[in-house]
Amino acid sequence: MNPLNQDQNLEVLLQENRRFLPPSSFQKSANLHDFEIYEKAANDPETFWAGWARKLDWMQPWKKVLEWKPPHAKWFVDGKINASVNCVDRHVFQDAGPNAKRNKAAIIWEGEPGDTRTLTYFDLYREVNQFANVLRKLGVKKGDRVAIYMPLVPELMVACLGCARIGAVHSVVFGGFSAEALRDRIQDAEAKVLITADFGWRRGQKISLKKMADQALAETPTIQHVIVVERERGHSTLHNEGHFKEGRDHWWHELMAQSPAYAEPEETDAEDMLFILYTSGTTGKPKGIVHTTGGYLTGVYATTQWVFDLKDQDVYWCTADIGWITGHSYVIYGPLSNGATVFIYEGAPDYPDKDRFWKLIEKYGVSVFYTAPTAIRTFMKWGVDWTKRADLSSLRLLGSVGEPINPEAWMWYHEHIGGKRCPVVDTWWQTETGSIMITPLPGITTTKPGSATVAFPGISAEVLNEKGERVENGGGYVAITKPWPSMLRTLYKDDARYVKTYWSKWGKDIYFAGDGARRDDDGYFWFMGRVDDVMNVAGHRIGTMEVESAIVDHPSVAESAVVGKNHEIKGQAIIAFVTLKEGFTPSEDLVKEIKNHVVKKIGSLARPEDILFSADLPKTRSGKIMRRLLRDIAEGKALGDTTTLADPAVIQRLKAQYEESEGG
Ligand code: WTA
Repeated sequence: MNPLNQDQNLEVLLQENRRFLPPSSFQKSANLHDFEIYEKAANDPETFWAGWARKLDWMQPWKKVLEWKPPHAKWFVDGKINASVNCVDRHVFQDAGPNAKRNKAAIIWEGEPGDTRTLTYFDLYREVNQFANVLRKLGVKKGDRVAIYMPLVPELMVACLGCARIGAVHSVVFGGFSAEALRDRIQDAEAKVLITADFGWRRGQKISLKKMADQALAETPTIQHVIVVERERGHSTLHNEGHFKEGRDHWWHELMAQSPAYAEPEETDAEDMLFILYTSGTTGKPKGIVHTTGGYLTGVYATTQWVFDLKDQDVYWCTADIGWITGHSYVIYGPLSNGATVFIYEGAPDYPDKDRFWKLIEKYGVSVFYTAPTAIRTFMKWGVDWTKRADLSSLRLLGSVGEPINPEAWMWYHEHIGGKRCPVVDTWWQTETGSIMITPLPGITTTKPGSATVAFPGISAEVLNEKGERVENGGGYVAITKPWPSMLRTLYKDDARYVKTYWSKWGKDIYFAGDGARRDDDGYFWFMGRVDDVMNVAGHRIGTMEVESAIVDHPSVAESAVVGKNHEIKGQAIIAFVTLKEGFTPSEDLVKEIKNHVVKKIGSLARPEDILFSADLPKTRSGKIMRRLLRDIAEGKALGDTTTLADPAVIQRLKAQYEESEGG
């Protein structure tokens, strides 16, 4: 894998010479003005981070800021801290006086059909407490894992915080994943309880999560109880359809109605697990990323305050689903620990019309908006007639995350959504990093469209070459050279893979991110995408091997190779090359069947865009499939170096066949 293989695009990017200074009106009231903060933090990152940690509420102070035995870190050693207390209680009880947040909206929610709910911090406090008691009553103890498979409703946030309150570890599985994907994640985490909903709305359709979950539950012996949110109270058909198992399944609202109003928060250790979140890697098996409590909260608290510049009067909307890290860090823990008002919306951006997001911004007066480049490109395609249908003047800051943002999309976002007055923060980070790592600080950083700019204060990010040497002005691999508070601690039940994946390329003290980037004369980072076998499809991380395993699982398939092909809207699209078993012939029906099989195994997010049948796949003499060449074919490029192939004729045939099928 060569991180420089996108050099051509980069040349174009690096000629990007537009510059945007923070608007002076923004600068004046920004949470951060201090240009010297970078140097101060770099000189003593531990003191810098301890300063942030001190702004949280601790039940017992830490004895030592950092214990670093590469590649294992402990932050805020022996400190005791509860995440739910920091997200809820302290706003209800401690900020008395003119800034009291007790009756401030914590969560404003709108469902896809237009139903709405607002929870003040006090409402949220009451629900989190009650739900913590529900979990305790069902026998959930500190350290137990709780799986969550839900639509984007306020109960999802209550569920996570309820787990945090009693020290249980949540594992949220995105509602778009299939029953099998859910089953695998429950099995790996050995979860005791599953929280789900009868259904959620998506583009006018009911997504029947509980029915999907029931398929998974047939093979998850560790699950003792299932808690089901009734999405529309009094209307559920689950009982009639035989999808409610007495004794095991419980209605959320019934349990809550019987639950006492106060739950003593667990004194969790700074290094106690807060959650596991599964993400794709370079093998077929997703990795359980482990985040702990004290350092994670410190990281998300600090970055939310400085990157999004949150103020008490803001209405903050991050469009990510809570099934992804962005939802964990910047829908729940970051904004709530800051006492912000968080807006969430359940459904699709084009339901009932393509102006839904803009109407929501107008209706709720959203002031800070954080979304993904794939969404921005989709909005561009739909056109500005839709954006003009709503008043977007409440916006004051825009954010982007999930993949590199191309300068045109950045400019469009800046002009048509931000009205040229809002700073744009392009934030680079990962499930593993827990919080934002490379980003502008909106009050002080000059931005360049397409660049995530520089590392957050206290973060040591570099671009290194193969040998681990620092690249001053050029391309290479992204590395983090010092531990940081919100870093992943390990992979659940697989520490060896943790060490091998992230801390082995150059040594045990340098984190290998798996991304390629270039630095320009100002030291700004220009991200180029993954350098491993991980694709980024519409901002979702999907492993090529995961999709290959799903395809090979189909009875007709002998072998498969999957590549990510550049795609105008999605960033990358999944293209699968498939060799059939003896006795099967390629057909349109088979294409459909294999695609559906992938959806069944993983979820619709992994549905291949194209399937190409081939008698052989290009392999090296040692039998390794050369995906790089397949990518060249899929993208219609000239073939790269083919000298290491066992049989160069295979790739030539494939190229001809692909061109013919594209042409025809
Ligand atoms: C990519 C999402 C360029 C990157 C928070 C990373 C980005 C992967 C950016 C992590 C960005 C995320 N610019 N690339 N601003 N943000 N990425 O774990 O390849 O779902 O490694 O975390 O997304 O995806 P994940």
